[in-house]
Amino acid sequence: MCGIIGYSGESNAKDIIIDGLRALEYRGYDSAGLTVFENNRLRTVRTTGRVNSLNEKTAESIRGKQKCGIGHTRWATHGEPSERNAHPQGNDTLMLVHNGIIENNNELKENYIGKNYNFTSDTDTEVIAAVIEKEYKECGDRIQSIRKASERLRGSFALGIVFSDCPDTVFATRKDSPLIVGRSSHGNFIASDISAFRKHTDKYCRLNDYETAVISKNDIVIINREGRSLSPTWHTAESRNDSADIHGFRHFMLKEIYDEPEAMKKTFEAITDNGLPDFSKTVDDDFFRRINSIHITACGTAYHAGLLGGHFIEKLARIPVNVCVASEFRYNDPVTDKNDLVIIISQSGETADSLAALRLMNSRGIRTLSVVNAQGSSMENESDCIIRTHAGAEISVASTKAFHVQVLVLLMIAVKLALVNGKITEEYAKEILKEVQNDFTYNIPDILQRSNSILPVADRLSVHRNVFFIGRGRDSILATEASLKLKEISYINSQAYPAGELKHGTISLIEKGTPVIAVVTDSFFYDKMKSNIREVKARGACVISICHRNAKEITEISDEVILLPEETSSLMPFSASTVIQLLAYHTANALGRDIDKPRNLAKSVTVE
Ligand code: F6R
Repeated sequence: MCGIIGYSGESNAKDIIIDGLRALEYRGYDSAGLTVFENNRLRTVRTTGRVNSLNEKTAESIRGKQKCGIGHTRWATHGEPSERNAHPQGNDTLMLVHNGIIENNNELKENYIGKNYNFTSDTDTEVIAAVIEKEYKECGDRIQSIRKASERLRGSFALGIVFSDCPDTVFATRKDSPLIVGRSSHGNFIASDISAFRKHTDKYCRLNDYETAVISKNDIVIINREGRSLSPTWHTAESRNDSADIHGFRHFMLKEIYDEPEAMKKTFEAITDNGLPDFSKTVDDDFFRRINSIHITACGTAYHAGLLGGHFIEKLARIPVNVCVASEFRYNDPVTDKNDLVIIISQSGETADSLAALRLMNSRGIRTLSVVNAQGSSMENESDCIIRTHAGAEISVASTKAFHVQVLVLLMIAVKLALVNGKITEEYAKEILKEVQNDFTYNIPDILQRSNSILPVADRLSVHRNVFFIGRGRDSILATEASLKLKEISYINSQAYPAGELKHGTISLIEKGTPVIAVVTDSFFYDKMKSNIREVKARGACVISICHRNAKEITEISDEVILLPEETSSLMPFSASTVIQLLAYHTANALGRDIDKPRNLAKSVTVE
């Protein structure tokens, strides 16, 4: 949520910052801004809208030499998206960019800063600048003023700061919001994530809570909370793959759906050996033994992956699973036992609620296992054990390929738990893995090849304002994810229901022509779903079924069908999941929506 970059070096700072902000724009895109030292004086430019408009604005106004600066792309929390509220914010002493939320900003404004300060924005960020300025005026030391101010702030923050009397130096600090430092041959960086400077270097170090970084062209100094200087631990980022390029697709979302077979293959190969799950690179089999119960927690689409994971684990390993959205889990005071396992799922590894849930479990000493896609994330750093998914960069705000690989990993965990606890045979485990392989090798590519056949259904859907999704068992979870995906990018209201639940109230909303999308991919439920489809059709619904080729009766009673390739077992949600993503994509496209950057959203939700 919001992107930060800071640079000090030999190259043109404005260009490096704008370029970095483009890579970070997926984190927030309602306004953007930068501050650079131009001839040793601070110059700030802010704008509403995207980084492109910042680029145009700075092309006119900043022409001099500049080797240092900070930049920000915003997802508004305090104050509407406007030029006035865009970052950097500050005063004559300093300018700063901020990710996070300051919870005591009113208190600080009223009781610490007082009436004499002239605030010009509605942001909590400007209050931070005022506090640092006050501390600086009192102690005359920049690092100390940042440290003292940090102690006064409640909430979460990652800050990039420039002081008007300290040219070509960027200061940074953080608490509960990610921030890293990078070093390259031509200069040094700070950023909210590595994509901001990955073009320039693969060397990065993490800043821990309350540490302060000072970067200049030739120097990086890290100071801890007590004021002692630290030697940073440098990491090397994975080699850049080309997954951040759009490759001629109209949108990243479509391109990322087409990445699914490859992402699944890579992830599958990393966690299997000889046709069986193998996590020995990160965790040994003992980790999966003597587990009383499992908690799975995540947000949004990752939560839906968790629901599928819970379904698989209960089905195969017969271990009870509690799946809960992280924003509730963290405050629910969940009942846990020392023999429990907590699984956290996240594409970014930075989602504030999921991270808080992880920290809560760590504080109780419960085993934690995180399923994370992004390298170098906070979750990677703080979990007992990590299983990486290999989706590559996911740029579109709507999660697609990351969902597939999350589900794949969870299915492999379920198979592993079932094996080590003697609930299934190796033979059966191998059959399951073979089916997964078939899905990414044949079935999903087959759907992708026929992607255009979904267009007429999407066109039909695009004129409606209310849509229902129904399904049973695993398909009911897919219906929930399908509904989220459609809402998120097309802005069409939709609801998902377990098909047997409609008649307990919701069916009153069905009238002539209401689209009901039935996910019917588990043959165990064919007969039940036939009845549920008939129930809604009897009330005028237009039923679009997503089913297998051999589901003849479902096809006959539906108004439209989207056919999946060959029938798979009840454990394979992958092909249907590709279809629901394509359906959401084509519907949003028919409506001309801004698919990769839907309104009001951001990719990485680092505020709670
Ligand atoms: C929806 C979507 C979000 C994310 C959620 C969790 O398409 O992308 O619902 O799934 O914000 O994000 P991560 O996985 O980064 O924790």
